[in-house]
This record gives sequence, structure tokens and C-alpha cells, in this order.
Amino acid sequence: MKCSFLLGLGLMSAMMPLQVMAVDTVHLSIDASKTGARIDRNIFGQFAENLGHGLYEGIWVGPDSSIPNTRGIRNDVVAALRELKVPNVRWPGGCFADQYHWRKGIGPRDKRPATVNSAWGDVIDTNAFGTDEFMDFIQQIGSTPYVSINIGSGTPQEAAEWLEYMTAAAPTALAKERAANGHPEPYKVGYLGIGNESWDCGGAMTPDYYVSLMKVYSRFVLNMNPAQRSKDQMLKIAVGPGTPDTEWTEAVMQAWKKHTWAWDINGLSLHWYTVPNGWPPSTNSEKFGLDDYVKTLKSTLFMDEFLRKQEAVMDKYDPEKKVTLTVDEWGAWHAPLSGSNPAFLVQQNSLRDAILASLNLNIFSRHGDRVRMANIAQMINVLQAMILTDKEKMVLTPTYYVFKMYVPFQDATLIPVAFDAGAYTHGGVSLPRVDAIAAKGADGKLLLEITNLDAENSAAVDADLTGITAKSVKAETLTGAEVDSINTFESPNSVAPKPAAAKLQNGKLSVTVAPRSVTVVSIEP
Ligand code: AHR
Repeated sequence: MKCSFLLGLGLMSAMMPLQVMAVDTVHLSIDASKTGARIDRNIFGQFAENLGHGLYEGIWVGPDSSIPNTRGIRNDVVAALRELKVPNVRWPGGCFADQYHWRKGIGPRDKRPATVNSAWGDVIDTNAFGTDEFMDFIQQIGSTPYVSINIGSGTPQEAAEWLEYMTAAAPTALAKERAANGHPEPYKVGYLGIGNESWDCGGAMTPDYYVSLMKVYSRFVLNMNPAQRSKDQMLKIAVGPGTPDTEWTEAVMQAWKKHTWAWDINGLSLHWYTVPNGWPPSTNSEKFGLDDYVKTLKSTLFMDEFLRKQEAVMDKYDPEKKVTLTVDEWGAWHAPLSGSNPAFLVQQNSLRDAILASLNLNIFSRHGDRVRMANIAQMINVLQAMILTDKEKMVLTPTYYVFKMYVPFQDATLIPVAFDAGAYTHGGVSLPRVDAIAAKGADGKLLLEITNLDAENSAAVDADLTGITAKSVKAETLTGAEVDSINTFESPNSVAPKPAAAKLQNGKLSVTVAPRSVTVVSIEP
């Protein structure tokens, strides 16, 4: 079965014995003169909730720590994140956002009140990492803030004042307070989340109740930064669905269609985690085998169908695709690591998670006309993290390396790829054998990503290239000895990208991709 942009299961190959199937060459057809939607850099966004050791210890160690830091923020973590060119960071939650009262996190740190983080484990929150520390972190990593406001236990006034504190340039009382706290210049806030999972932890609201609140918050929570008035305007993201049914999306989009001068939204959020056995999460994040591997990847591929369903509703009310679908929580959610606080959502990160990440990034890219923003959950020490830390130690996860390999895809333009995905079957579970996307990078290079889902066999890949005179090629691959290979503090490079051999001949590219791998090929025109 040929497919363009879409995955296809090759029925012929699915019926053939595994060994025969695995040595078949995969043929890709790429016409570089044809282009699709832009792969918005914002789909590579991150999520940093006040949860477990995501902020405290993961980012914030305090200025007096022996761990090297700049104004309390870990230097090693900042240096690693800068490499990812993180486009935006969602903060402070998550469920935590609807319990956060920003005033407790500003001013001299020794005067800030201790509070209880009742969203995540009832631990004491010193509030040392507040608004100004978050903005400092954002500036250090070179990103853009995506601030989720509290519409659950807060008020429109509290949220409006928070935005004024962050963004007012005129000498208002709140701007003066910010200046007194050491920040005379207003901050830029790129994105505003109006609540979080308001159908659940954010207040168990009905769609109609949420829509009424959304209008009020959209109307009164204003960005006052003069530099964001005519350009770089702050985009407002409404709460969207977390289950495949479309009732919530219908309600928000129907309201949006009738929006007036007084309010607007620019995005609808969507949350979908890969939880192969359903809730509560029970898959192991370390020491697992092929059964778990195929089950997890099968489950993650559902993202495509989920997006299609919601997009169909959005298209009905917004055929011009003005409202972006923002997948601001996604990733693998496994069982908590044994011995960890279950409320801290600590899990290992393996090669399987890296492959899962590339599959989702490819799905988002193929949906680029509607999905223009996404945030993996979460950045550090929580769920499918980029980085794990333990006191002064830090390790980069396989998922980190996928995000690093995809940097050239930020703001690239999708190019259609036609291919027969074939099938990889294990234990009765059938997956596409390969996945691939192609794009024209912002620097003009032709980019190709190939994910080999087959855990046991490499794949020889041939690509016919038309619409480009290819001069030279470079490739790198991420793989590991087993599907559950991980990076540890003792052995940090078990799963790290390595150069791969790729060849150009008579307008054809050939590359052999390792079993269970993510490969990015870059072709110089
Ligand atoms: O990412 C962890 C939690 O998952 C978030 O706080 C919440 O929004 C979601 O249910």
C-alpha cells in the first residue's frame, strides 16, 4: 500500500515470515519541489510543572548551592537545554496551575510564605521558584514563556494582575513592584493558557461553564507589553479535550465561531498520554521486553486518530485553521519507579521512549496545518523527561537526543514522502515497520527522518529524490543494544546519536537504518 504523509501497513509483507520481511528494502519517493505545511518550531515545546523534582532540584538549586548555578538556576541543565533551542516552556502546570497564587512567589525569597503543593504529594513549597525565577530561566535557555493561569481557585482579577506584573511597561504599581524585585523591563509572555484540564483537576467543569469562564478570562487578562501590541502578540490557548470524544471541542469551537471584539482565543489545547494498559499507568519504564515495546508503540500511534477526530470538529467551525490545536501535554506515562514518591511521577527514559517521541513528532508534523504547538510532559525528572538529575549529577535521556536531532526540523517545510511502511509484528501486535517524514529546512537543506520500529532487523532504505540536485549527505542515528536501553549517571552515552553511513548516487539516497532506531539524514542541495 502506497501512502503519502500517511503510514500504511503493507499487507503483503505482513503475511510474510519475519526474516524475509525485514530484509526488504524500503522505498521512499521524495519530490522536493512539492511542499506541505510548516513544521512550527513550537511543536518542540516543553512542559515544566511544579511537580516532584521538575523545578526544585531539576532547575532550581538556589544561589547558595554547591551545584554550579546562575542566580540559583543549574548551569548544566541550562547548557543542555540551550542545545535543544526550546521554543516555549509551559509553566507552572498542569494541575498545579489551578492552585497557584502567583503573589506567594515574588519578592525577597526569605519572606515568601511556605505553602502546600496539594496537587502533587502535599509537599511543602517554599515558593523560591516564582515568576521572576521562571523568567530568568526562560532567558537563560533562550525560550518563550507559556504561562498557565489559575481559573480554578483564582479569580479574573488575580490573573489580570499577574499579567500586569509581568508585562506592564508604564509605571503602574505592579510594574513598580516588579522593578523593585529587580526587573524594570517588562517580560514578554508568548502564550497564555486559560486553565488546565478544567473538566478534571482544573475544577471538574462542564463545557458550558468553562466556556463562560474562558470568555471572561480572555477579555480581562491582558498583556500590557508595548512590544507585544502589534507584533508578537500573546496567543491565548483554551482548555481542550483529554479524551477522544468531541463534546468539549464542539462547545469551545462553537463559542469561538461567535466570538466578538471583546474576547478571542488562538488555540485549543489537547492532552493525550501514552498509557498502554490504561489508568493507572502500569508499564515499566526500565527492564521490560518486546511485548511492552510493541504495545506501547501501538498505543502511541493512536495520537494520529485522536488529532483527526478533533480536527474534523475544528474544521467545521474554523475551516481557515486560525485556531491552533496545541498538544500541550503528551508523552509516555509509565508506572512510578520503585522507591520513588508516586506523586512525583518519576520514571526512567529508554530507547522505546525515544522512538515514541519521534513517532509523535512525525504525527504532529504531518498535522502541521492545525497542530502548531505541542509540549512534551515533562522537561526534567518528571514523566518522559529530557533530563534526569540527582543532586550534582545530570544525565541526558534518549528522548533528549531525539529533540536534539530534530532541531533542523524547527520551522522547516514539510515535503510529502510516499512509502510502503510494511509491518513489524511481534506477539500478535502489528506495527508499521518504518515511519518517515521529509522537510525543507530553514537553511534550504533537505531533511529526512526515518524511524525503524522493527526491534530486531535493520532496514535498507532507498529514496528517489526529485526536485533537488543533491550534493552531499550526512546522517546520524540513535539506537541502543535493547529496546529498554537507558542512559544512567554511570553510563550516560549508551543511547546517544552516532554518525551513520548514507550514500548518494544518481539522484538516489541509500541508508541502512539500525533496528529500533531514529535516523536523521541531511542533504545539501
Ligand atoms: O503532567 C502531569 C499531569 O497530567 C498534569 O498536571 C495534568 O494536567 C495532567 O493530568
